[in-house]
Amino acid sequence: MEKAQNDLSKKYSKGTIIIHWLTVMLIFALFPLGKYMEGLAPEEKMGIIKIHAILGMLVFILTAIRTWLFFKAPRPAELKTGSAFNDKLIIWVRNAFYFLLFAITISGSATMILGGYGDALSSDNADLIMERGDIMPLKGHGFLAFTLMILFVMHIIGIIKHYFLRKELVIKRMLPW
Ligand code: HEM
Repeated sequence: MEKAQNDLSKKYSKGTIIIHWLTVMLIFALFPLGKYMEGLAPEEKMGIIKIHAILGMLVFILTAIRTWLFFKAPRPAELKTGSAFNDKLIIWVRNAFYFLLFAITISGSATMILGGYGDALSSDNADLIMERGDIMPLKGHGFLAFTLMILFVMHIIGIIKHYFLRKELVIKRMLPW
Protein backbone atom coordinates (compact mmCIF):
# COMPACT_ATOMS: atom_id res chain seq x y z
CA MET A 1 0.00 0.00 0.00
CA GLU A 2 1.29 3.44 -0.93
CA LYS A 3 1.77 6.16 1.69
CA ALA A 4 -0.81 8.88 2.28
CA GLN A 5 -1.12 11.04 -0.79
CA ASN A 6 -3.64 13.79 0.00
CA ASP A 7 -2.79 17.21 1.40
CA LEU A 8 -5.23 17.40 4.33
CA SER A 9 -4.14 20.91 5.31
CA LYS A 10 -6.16 22.18 2.33
CA LYS A 11 -9.73 22.58 3.59
CA TYR A 12 -13.15 23.40 2.25
CA SER A 13 -14.23 27.06 2.62
CA LYS A 14 -15.63 28.20 6.00
CA GLY A 15 -19.07 28.64 4.41
CA THR A 16 -19.10 25.09 3.01
CA ILE A 17 -17.93 23.68 6.37
CA ILE A 18 -20.65 25.51 8.32
CA ILE A 19 -23.35 24.46 5.83
CA HIS A 20 -22.12 20.84 5.85
CA TRP A 21 -22.51 20.46 9.62
CA LEU A 22 -25.74 22.47 9.81
CA THR A 23 -27.21 20.21 7.12
CA VAL A 24 -26.13 17.09 9.04
CA MET A 25 -27.93 18.37 12.15
CA LEU A 26 -31.04 19.33 10.18
CA ILE A 27 -31.25 15.91 8.49
CA PHE A 28 -30.83 14.20 11.86
CA ALA A 29 -33.93 16.12 12.98
CA LEU A 30 -35.91 15.89 9.71
CA PHE A 31 -35.67 12.16 9.03
CA PRO A 32 -36.95 10.95 12.44
CA LEU A 33 -39.54 13.74 12.44
CA GLY A 34 -40.81 12.56 9.04
CA LYS A 35 -40.91 8.93 10.16
CA TYR A 36 -42.70 9.90 13.36
CA MET A 37 -45.35 11.85 11.42
CA GLU A 38 -46.15 8.78 9.32
CA GLY A 39 -47.95 7.13 12.22
CA LEU A 40 -49.92 10.18 13.39
CA ALA A 41 -53.52 11.12 12.60
CA PRO A 42 -53.84 14.34 10.49
CA GLU A 43 -54.99 16.49 13.44
CA GLU A 44 -52.03 15.28 15.51
CA LYS A 45 -49.37 16.20 12.96
CA MET A 46 -50.30 19.83 12.16
CA GLY A 47 -47.67 21.41 14.44
CA ILE A 48 -44.92 18.95 13.52
CA ILE A 49 -45.49 19.42 9.79
CA LYS A 50 -44.91 23.15 10.19
CA ILE A 51 -41.57 22.52 11.95
CA HIS A 52 -40.61 19.80 9.41
CA ALA A 53 -41.39 22.08 6.46
CA ILE A 54 -39.50 25.09 7.89
CA LEU A 55 -36.39 23.02 8.73
CA GLY A 56 -36.65 21.31 5.33
CA MET A 57 -36.81 24.64 3.48
CA LEU A 58 -33.74 25.70 5.42
CA VAL A 59 -31.97 22.64 3.98
CA PHE A 60 -33.06 23.77 0.50
CA ILE A 61 -31.65 27.28 1.01
CA LEU A 62 -28.40 25.97 2.51
CA THR A 63 -27.98 23.48 -0.35
CA ALA A 64 -28.52 26.25 -2.91
CA ILE A 65 -25.83 28.39 -1.23
CA ARG A 66 -23.54 25.35 -0.97
CA THR A 67 -23.95 24.61 -4.67
CA TRP A 68 -23.00 28.18 -5.46
CA LEU A 69 -19.97 27.90 -3.13
CA PHE A 70 -18.99 24.63 -4.80
CA PHE A 71 -18.36 26.48 -8.04
CA LYS A 72 -17.22 29.85 -6.63
CA ALA A 73 -15.20 29.16 -3.46
CA PRO A 74 -11.77 27.55 -3.56
CA ARG A 75 -11.93 23.87 -2.59
CA PRO A 76 -9.32 21.19 -1.99
CA ALA A 77 -8.29 18.79 -4.75
CA GLU A 78 -10.42 15.66 -5.22
CA LEU A 79 -9.37 12.87 -2.84
CA LYS A 80 -7.08 10.16 -4.14
CA THR A 81 -7.65 6.69 -2.70
CA GLY A 82 -5.29 4.59 -4.78
CA SER A 83 -8.23 3.05 -6.65
CA ALA A 84 -9.64 4.75 -9.77
CA PHE A 85 -13.03 3.19 -8.98
CA ASN A 86 -13.11 4.60 -5.44
CA ASP A 87 -11.95 8.01 -6.64
CA LYS A 88 -14.95 8.11 -8.97
CA LEU A 89 -17.30 6.68 -6.33
CA ILE A 90 -16.41 9.55 -3.96
CA ILE A 91 -17.39 12.10 -6.61
CA TRP A 92 -20.62 10.28 -7.45
CA VAL A 93 -21.65 9.99 -3.81
CA ARG A 94 -21.00 13.69 -3.34
CA ASN A 95 -22.96 14.64 -6.46
CA ALA A 96 -25.79 12.34 -5.39
CA PHE A 97 -25.96 14.16 -2.02
CA TYR A 98 -26.51 17.48 -3.77
CA PHE A 99 -29.06 15.99 -6.14
CA LEU A 100 -30.94 14.18 -3.36
CA LEU A 101 -31.09 17.21 -1.07
CA PHE A 102 -32.68 19.25 -3.86
CA ALA A 103 -35.02 16.43 -4.89
CA ILE A 104 -36.13 15.74 -1.29
CA THR A 105 -36.88 19.37 -0.53
CA ILE A 106 -38.71 19.87 -3.84
CA SER A 107 -40.78 16.67 -3.40
CA GLY A 108 -41.49 17.74 0.21
CA SER A 109 -42.80 21.09 -1.02
CA ALA A 110 -44.89 19.33 -3.70
CA THR A 111 -46.32 17.04 -0.99
CA MET A 112 -47.14 20.09 1.08
CA ILE A 113 -49.07 21.72 -1.79
CA LEU A 114 -50.62 18.73 -3.60
CA GLY A 115 -51.36 16.72 -0.44
CA GLY A 116 -53.48 19.49 1.06
CA TYR A 117 -51.05 20.16 3.94
CA GLY A 118 -50.67 23.84 2.99
CA ASP A 119 -54.45 24.36 2.85
CA ALA A 120 -54.87 22.47 6.13
CA LEU A 121 -52.34 24.69 7.87
CA SER A 122 -53.61 27.98 6.47
CA SER A 123 -57.24 27.22 7.41
CA ASP A 124 -56.39 25.24 10.56
CA ASN A 125 -58.45 22.31 9.23
CA ALA A 126 -56.64 18.95 9.38
CA ASP A 127 -59.43 17.29 7.33
CA LEU A 128 -57.95 18.90 4.19
CA ILE A 129 -54.90 16.61 4.41
CA MET A 130 -55.36 13.85 1.79
CA GLU A 131 -54.97 10.10 2.35
CA ARG A 132 -51.23 9.27 2.37
CA GLY A 133 -51.66 6.66 -0.39
CA ASP A 134 -53.20 9.27 -2.72
CA ILE A 135 -50.30 11.73 -2.46
CA MET A 136 -47.91 10.87 -5.32
CA PRO A 137 -45.01 13.19 -4.34
CA LEU A 138 -45.05 11.75 -0.80
CA LYS A 139 -44.02 8.36 -2.20
CA GLY A 140 -41.06 10.00 -3.94
CA HIS A 141 -40.25 12.05 -0.84
CA GLY A 142 -40.13 8.95 1.40
CA PHE A 143 -38.07 6.98 -1.12
CA LEU A 144 -35.57 9.82 -1.63
CA ALA A 145 -35.20 10.34 2.13
CA PHE A 146 -34.49 6.61 2.53
CA THR A 147 -31.92 6.75 -0.30
CA LEU A 148 -30.26 9.70 1.45
CA MET A 149 -29.82 7.55 4.56
CA ILE A 150 -28.16 4.78 2.49
CA LEU A 151 -25.81 7.34 1.00
CA PHE A 152 -25.07 8.67 4.46
CA VAL A 153 -24.01 5.17 5.60
CA MET A 154 -21.80 4.80 2.49
CA HIS A 155 -20.27 8.20 3.25
CA ILE A 156 -19.32 7.14 6.81
CA ILE A 157 -18.05 3.70 5.68
CA GLY A 158 -15.89 5.42 3.04
CA ILE A 159 -14.33 7.77 5.61
CA ILE A 160 -13.59 4.92 8.06
CA LYS A 161 -12.27 2.62 5.31
CA HIS A 162 -9.98 5.37 4.02
CA TYR A 163 -8.64 5.89 7.53
CA PHE A 164 -7.80 2.20 8.00
CA LEU A 165 -6.30 1.72 4.54
CA ARG A 166 -4.52 5.05 4.17
CA LYS A 167 -4.18 6.36 7.73
CA GLU A 168 -5.66 9.66 6.57
CA LEU A 169 -8.42 11.45 8.51
CA VAL A 170 -10.13 13.07 5.55
CA ILE A 171 -12.74 14.64 7.85
CA LYS A 172 -10.03 17.27 8.59
CA ARG A 173 -10.95 18.86 5.26
CA MET A 174 -14.43 19.51 6.61
CA LEU A 175 -13.32 20.87 10.01
CA PRO A 176 -12.49 24.55 10.53
CA TRP A 177 -9.42 23.84 12.70
C1 HEM B 1 -33.62 17.08 3.82
C2 HEM B 1 -34.88 17.40 3.96
C3 HEM B 1 -36.00 16.46 4.33
C4 HEM B 1 -35.97 15.18 4.85
C5 HEM B 1 -34.74 14.32 5.18
C6 HEM B 1 -37.34 14.75 5.00
C7 HEM B 1 -37.75 13.50 5.47
C8 HEM B 1 -39.05 13.04 5.52
C9 HEM B 1 -39.46 11.68 5.83
C10 HEM B 1 -38.53 10.53 6.17
C11 HEM B 1 -40.82 11.63 5.74
C12 HEM B 1 -41.71 10.39 5.91
C13 HEM B 1 -41.89 9.84 4.50
C14 HEM B 1 -42.90 8.75 4.35
O1 HEM B 1 -44.02 8.91 4.83
O2 HEM B 1 -42.56 7.75 3.71
C15 HEM B 1 -41.30 12.96 5.39
C16 HEM B 1 -42.63 13.32 5.25
C17 HEM B 1 -43.07 14.59 4.89
N1 HEM B 1 -42.28 15.68 4.57
FE1 HEM B 1 -40.25 15.73 4.58
N2 HEM B 1 -38.19 15.77 4.59
C18 HEM B 1 -37.41 16.83 4.18
C19 HEM B 1 -37.84 18.06 3.68
C20 HEM B 1 -39.17 18.44 3.57
C21 HEM B 1 -39.64 19.73 3.08
C22 HEM B 1 -38.75 20.87 2.58
C23 HEM B 1 -41.00 19.71 3.14
C24 HEM B 1 -42.01 20.78 2.78
C25 HEM B 1 -41.76 22.02 2.49
C26 HEM B 1 -41.39 18.40 3.67
C27 HEM B 1 -42.70 18.00 3.85
C28 HEM B 1 -43.10 16.74 4.24
C29 HEM B 1 -44.49 16.32 4.37
C30 HEM B 1 -45.71 17.20 4.11
C31 HEM B 1 -44.47 14.97 4.78
C32 HEM B 1 -45.69 14.06 5.04
C33 HEM B 1 -45.96 13.90 6.50
C34 HEM B 1 -47.05 12.87 6.76
O3 HEM B 1 -48.21 13.15 6.51
O4 HEM B 1 -46.72 11.79 7.24
N3 HEM B 1 -40.27 17.66 3.90
N4 HEM B 1 -40.20 13.79 5.24
